[in-house]
Amino acid sequence: MNSFAENIFGEAPKASSGILVVDGQVDTRHGPILYLEDVSVSFDGFKALNDLSLYIDAGELRCLIGPNGAGKTTLMDVITGKTRPDMGSVFFGQTIDLLKMDEPEIAQAGICRKFQKPSIFDALTVFENLELALKADKRTWPTLFHRLSSTQYDRINHVIEVIGLMSCNQHRAGILSHGQKQWLEIGMLLMQEPKVMLVDEPIAGMTHQEVERTAELLLSLQGQHSIVVVEHDMEFVRSIASKVTVLHEGSVLTEGTMDEVQNDPRVIQVYLGG
Ligand SMILES: Nc1ncnc2c1ncn2[C@@H]1O[C@H](COP(=O)(O)OP(=O)(O)O)[C@@H](O)[C@H]1O
Ligand SMILES: [Mg+2]
Repeated sequence: MNSFAENIFGEAPKASSGILVVDGQVDTRHGPILYLEDVSVSFDGFKALNDLSLYIDAGELRCLIGPNGAGKTTLMDVITGKTRPDMGSVFFGQTIDLLKMDEPEIAQAGICRKFQKPSIFDALTVFENLELALKADKRTWPTLFHRLSSTQYDRINHVIEVIGLMSCNQHRAGILSHGQKQWLEIGMLLMQEPKVMLVDEPIAGMTHQEVERTAELLLSLQGQHSIVVVEHDMEFVRSIASKVTVLHEGSVLTEGTMDEVQNDPRVIQVYLGG
């Protein structure tokens, strides 16, 4: 394990460029945990995001839908610091200005993202993957080459339970089913105790049973984490969402319950109209 970890984390993380966010200090006492206001992003004059405003509450599970090209991925890129908006404000809680932070600082502050392609290590077991995720957490850097404390051990086992992989915790990740790999990836994010999780198309390629299990998993995480899910499958969105935001041409078209947005003539027009 050590040499493997050494290969990956051969260098100690550099001191960040100034803004230090101490865990637990995101201030949501007077409002949302994510606050985007009048955000615009242009690519060669084309507005991928156009004066977009979006507010996500602490502990909320929000679904984001919209036709291809609506700006969903760009929105996640802005929140995680991958793309800089031309205009607008992006705040994490009331006090943390995400536009002043780079990608690693934003991740360290507690905003993480699950991509469609899992970044798990096939040759390691489920347990070892989670162990690695724990040790990749920069706050625990000094313990990288130490044995797991009992607290850390318990935390890994707790996450294994949350993601439903108890029966295969000693299996190599490479032999897991597609759905199990996705849950392990979510587990690896959970090891970092994120405040906000951005999840892009979590059920692509899953069996019906895996889709149901994923819905249960995401529902079980709300409350402790704020989760933003981008997904095309409307049946899945209906099964998890209390509030749905519809994006269209870089702006919020409408927000509401699944029934409200599905019956909104503008939404029907966007999805069915030419
Ligand atoms: N790096 C980029 N350069 C140029 N255009 C881009 C870039 N990223 C996204 N776009 C354009 O911005 C629009 C929004 O894209 P995207 O956020 O990927 O939409 P979605 O995820 O909702 O399908 C699309 O028209 C896309 O072609
Ligand atoms: Mg996209």
